[in-house]
Amino acid sequence: MPSDLLITGASQLLTLRGRVPRRGKALSNLGIVKNAAVLIRDGVIVAVGTRAEMESLPEALAAEKLDVGGRVVLPGFVDSHTHLIHAASRAEEYELKIAGVSYEEIALKGGGILNSVKKLRAATAEALKTRAHAALREFAAHGTTTLEAKSGYGLDVASELKILRLQRELNGEQPLEIVSTFLGAHVVPGEYRKKRGGAERYVGLLTEKLIPEVAGEKLAEFCDVFCDRGAFSRKESKRILEAGKKNGLLPRIHAEQLTRTGATQMAVQLGAASCDHLEQVNNADIQALAKSNTVAALLPGCDFHLGLKKYAPARELIEAGATVALATDYNPGTSPTMSMPMILSLACTQLRMSPAEAIAAATINAACSLLRDHKIGSLETGKQADIAVFDVDDYREIPYYFGVNKCWMTLKKGRPIFQKAHT
Ligand code: NIG
Ligand code: FE
Repeated sequence: MPSDLLITGASQLLTLRGRVPRRGKALSNLGIVKNAAVLIRDGVIVAVGTRAEMESLPEALAAEKLDVGGRVVLPGFVDSHTHLIHAASRAEEYELKIAGVSYEEIALKGGGILNSVKKLRAATAEALKTRAHAALREFAAHGTTTLEAKSGYGLDVASELKILRLQRELNGEQPLEIVSTFLGAHVVPGEYRKKRGGAERYVGLLTEKLIPEVAGEKLAEFCDVFCDRGAFSRKESKRILEAGKKNGLLPRIHAEQLTRTGATQMAVQLGAASCDHLEQVNNADIQALAKSNTVAALLPGCDFHLGLKKYAPARELIEAGATVALATDYNPGTSPTMSMPMILSLACTQLRMSPAEAIAAATINAACSLLRDHKIGSLETGKQADIAVFDVDDYREIPYYFGVNKCWMTLKKGRPIFQKAHT
């Protein structure tokens, strides 16, 4: 027996239907249907239209009904950049940063990523999983239905594999889809820093051992590198991404975050799925992204949390024709948030993106960057019924409110996975 669900009572339904990816002016095209309904069968969207159109369908009669009471319905957010698995917060560094110590200075003193590595290596798989489950519930509670997750706080063979295996297990244990990325190239771990040539040997470990093992066990779809001062050079990053590609892991990259390294143009040439951060890009980088299929994923949560004034040049990227996406970059060092609505608020006020642009960047364009735009990112016939319902009258109120959670319900494959308690 097929199970049909008819969602009615959407004052605005943002379909995000149409051409993918969204570039330039098309980024603000949300494909809104007013007084709308969606018919879902076995987790897949059968039809989307006005309430009258949907109620006249023969299947509508017997379908289970869900009336969302005049709220706004949109595709579940696709968070294309997170560092989901880590052992603890770094609140002590937050305090240092507020007092004026920079992110790089903290890292040089053995804090930063290496601080999280130490904690992860000491944590049990069970503790990591419990923490991840709690975080995933928060993602769902803010309207996210799919997220990418990177390894990168293990930085040795056993710990990196432990993270990626945990991510695989989590996929079967809870409703959100987790897309795995191998980020063994987050920084050079401490034990490789002591001797000269250590970085070279660590890159060797990644390219000769870890990447083939990760690919062999099908533990990740993508390979990422943090290319920056204090992390990996452009040359090292290229070697690592090429090794990933040879093993079937598609490149993505942390590019031009703290300093400009030229990582963007290198990654575009390798056909990277996405270049992320981009605060320090120059005009040539913007043009290269605009001419490519590489998605420019902006992470304004980092600049906000670190108290940095220079955000990525979103307007220039959009106007040049780059495919812009938004993500939380959920991680303990630079962006401790699971809230995509908060990222939308920052995108509007700090990146000067319109609410419509921000929503398209956080749904359909993000789905493109994970090569899943055929399945998720819009509400169209044949796509997964991954849906967020917001307790607002108008979609612009989604980024307009900040610091409060207006998500009312989240559905994954047509099943409610979060529902706001009645207040
Ligand atoms: O995306 N830039 C590198 N990686 C993370 C930060 C990681 C950390 O500080 O723990 C980021 O900002
Ligand atoms: Fe990151």
